[in-house]
Parts: sequence; C-alpha cells; structure tokens
Amino acid sequence: MSNQQKIVKEIKHPLIAHKLTLMRDKNTSIAKFRSLIKEVSLLLGYEATRKMQLDEKEIETPLEKAKMPVLRQKKSALISVLRAGNGILDGMIELMPTAHVGHIGLYRDPNSHSIIEYYLKFPKDINQRSAMVLDPMLATGYSAVTAVKRLKQVKPTSIEFICIVASPEGIQFFHEHHPDVPIITASIDRELNSKGYILPGLGDAGDRLFGTQ
Ligand code: URA
Repeated sequence: MSNQQKIVKEIKHPLIAHKLTLMRDKNTSIAKFRSLIKEVSLLLGYEATRKMQLDEKEIETPLEKAKMPVLRQKKSALISVLRAGNGILDGMIELMPTAHVGHIGLYRDPNSHSIIEYYLKFPKDINQRSAMVLDPMLATGYSAVTAVKRLKQVKPTSIEFICIVASPEGIQFFHEHHPDVPIITASIDRELNSKGYILPGLGDAGDRLFGTQ
C-alpha cells in the first residue's frame, strides 16, 4: 500500500456534474435517485480502476493470432458501508461483475457518541484482494475512518475510498487517520452543518435511496 500521500481525486466530468445536480434536487423521485446513484457510481468506478495493471495474452481473433491486454489482478473486493453504501455497490458490481463483496454495518451510539460495529462480513481471501470501500457521503468521516481501520486489520492488497459527495472536514479527518488511502469522489462540497450533514449535499443518502425519510 502507498504511504502518507493524502490523495483526493474529485472527478470532474460533465456527465457526473449533471447527474449529481439531479441527485441533489429534493424533488427527484426515489426511482430516479436510485438510477442516478448507480450511473454516477459507474463513472466513479471507471476512474477508480484506471490504474489496474494489465498483462498480455495471446488470443485468436477471427482473422489472426494477436497479443492483447487482460487484467493482471482480477481479485477485487467491494466493501459497502451499510446501508447507503449499497447504492454505490449496484453500479460498481455492474462494472466489476467478478468482484467479491463485503459489508460493514456501523452506527453512532447516541449516548457515548462512539461508533459501534453491528455487522461485518468480508470475503475470506480479502488479503489477496484490492478493496474499494463504498459510502456515498464522507461527512464527519467517523464511520469511514472506522470502516477502513477495520478493513486494514484483514490486510487487503490496497484500499481506496469511494464516495459521491465529500465534505472538506470529512476529508481532513479521514486523511489524519488514513493518509495512505486515496479518496475518489464526485464532489467536494462546501461544509458540514451543525448536525453533520453536508452542504449543499443531497440530504440523507440512505433515506433517499430506501424511502425512509
Ligand atoms: N450522511 C448523509 O447521508 N448525508 C449527509 O449529508 C451526511 C451524512
């Protein structure tokens, strides 16, 4: 794993910008929100996988033998931070259909304010896989930091953190704890409000995905 680099990639792309605006709009329906998060995730995944290593393999086209590129490391793990991470998962699985999937469930105890893990399941061979941690909103960064800390214990070959919207505060907090983990996001928004929501943001991603607002 690379060290101490604090990489943040805000993917600037007209399609991402447009789709994100639709996601932010409070009048966007649940069905549209779901398909947009999937579409934006596909585009983020395209960027997140840009540095995958290639080997050459000899194949036969209908016309001749040819050496062509194939992925060297096909072993990926997508780690969804429950529950909103599942919204990104749908798009990423479409892009990487052979990826294995892990889930981590975390909540903030209202009294102690500490992060409690209530569910954890990683692929068995996670230590041979490159991992992408999926959570649409990097807000305070508490759950992202905890999820990555837990994942580091099982030693995947690399870790990236993928989110749709990040706050400057969340990025700073995350990289104070995990400077070696790159963040890939569709947008770095202005700020967090006093309740820990991102502004302008898109509201509660889980509620908007699952219709629980
Ligand atoms: N979680 C969300 O879903 N939205 C925010 O703005 C912050 C945290």
